Amino acid sequence: MAIGTDPAASTSKIAQATLPDGFYSKFLSNAAQTRKASSIRSLFAVEALPGMIPMLVGRPNPATYPFERVTLDVKSPYASGSTTPDSQSDIETIDIVGDDLSEALQYSQSFGVPALNKWLFTLMQQEHGVSQADARVTIGAGSQDLLYKAFTAIVNPGDSIMVEAPTYPGVIPVIDALRCEIVQIDTDSQGISPTSLERTLEEWPLGKPFPKVLYTVPYGANPTGVTTSLVRRLDNLQLARKYNFLIFEDDPYYYLYFGEDQRPASYLSLERTVVDPQQRGIGRVLRFDSLSKIFAAGLRVGWATGPKQILNAMDGHTSTANLQPPTFSQIVALKVLQSWGIPGFRAHVDRVANFYKGKRDAFEKYMQLHLGNGLAEWQTPDAAMFYWVKLNIPETVTCSVRPDTTTAGSDDEDANQGDSKTFVEIKAVDNGVIVLPGTSSFVDGRTTAYVRISFSLLDEAQMDEGLRRLSEALKM
Ligand SMILES: Cc1ncc(COP(=O)(O)O)c(C=O)c1O
Repeated sequence: MAIGTDPAASTSKIAQATLPDGFYSKFLSNAAQTRKASSIRSLFAVEALPGMIPMLVGRPNPATYPFERVTLDVKSPYASGSTTPDSQSDIETIDIVGDDLSEALQYSQSFGVPALNKWLFTLMQQEHGVSQADARVTIGAGSQDLLYKAFTAIVNPGDSIMVEAPTYPGVIPVIDALRCEIVQIDTDSQGISPTSLERTLEEWPLGKPFPKVLYTVPYGANPTGVTTSLVRRLDNLQLARKYNFLIFEDDPYYYLYFGEDQRPASYLSLERTVVDPQQRGIGRVLRFDSLSKIFAAGLRVGWATGPKQILNAMDGHTSTANLQPPTFSQIVALKVLQSWGIPGFRAHVDRVANFYKGKRDAFEKYMQLHLGNGLAEWQTPDAAMFYWVKLNIPETVTCSVRPDTTTAGSDDEDANQGDSKTFVEIKAVDNGVIVLPGTSSFVDGRTTAYVRISFSLLDEAQMDEGLRRLSEALKM
């Protein structure tokens, strides 16, 4: 069986068949299958034919727009300072003018600005080994937009889906609204547990359709900060093949890995490189990336990479919901990325990861200082910007609301260890410090002693004082 797969098996690049169109028909939701195409957008390809006179779309005339030029002063990815450029020569000026400016100010494709889409696809080819035969890219207004559309593309009310527990708090309202059965899969210091996953699937009621998807954040998970190990990834992938479910790999922290060990390959890449003796085909992984954590969150640019059958459904959703992701943001990103090239992009993200490593090291020092003496337990993260901390909550803090703990995966042991939500509300906030109560990361809203602490924005004085206040609150 899959558990205990040899990581060495993942090294060879092999040719495998992609899954046929028919495979996806049982995955696509009724909404995705019955959504009407946008009558205008479905003619974009015809409009683009050489010599065609465009009388199709209500595009405003950019001559009427008030913008003449947009000038970007951009830090060089090779500048010597860690995040602050040392001198003017570390700044590159990029002008967006003429045709580029007209394009930036105009409507564009639902799958994103074609040149940016192409740039990101090349990055995905180099990083994860996708090819045009087995995947494409679509751009969204952040990965949150694409997650929402991806879940909507596959989930019908009553379907089952699996999420790692704890999970990204921002995805819970998305899946909650789809009225599906949500099964929580345990995680630990190595990431999502194949044992929990396999148990869930082996014990699945006879005759009931298996869950359609597993949602996971594999690098520096939000909220736990854990990076799923290679062995776990291989085991989970084998289970996806065996039980035929999709993996939604939500990876906005991929480039923020700063661990000592070699970084594990993505699910998207492993699917293409790990031999499946049963030849069950590739196309079960849909990957989500984002510029938010590495470039600018306010640009709202994210992208998804995976099988075109699901991305087509997501683009259909975009074409009716918001027509397209913002062109202006995409052109700003494109101009900078084109100027850097992929080597410059890599230099930049390495620097960003190094910046967060410095923050993590400083934060760890103050964690040890203020919470190290039995007030809390934690695992030091090797990526991203969160600590998932089990607080030793004083017995004087009693749980205000007893949440529903009947959902699969809920854990009464957690409830007995204290209620971080009540603690944060009545002790921590009063003491001038706020962290995210762990209950927000569980689909069943279970009581838990855990909190998520974000260190990304804090300077050392704030780290010291914030954790001192938290430790005081725990002693109150
Ligand atoms: C795990 C995870 N997924 C998705 C998102 C949303 O990112 P974006 O800004 O790309 O929409 C976040 C943001 O914090 C996140 O932590």
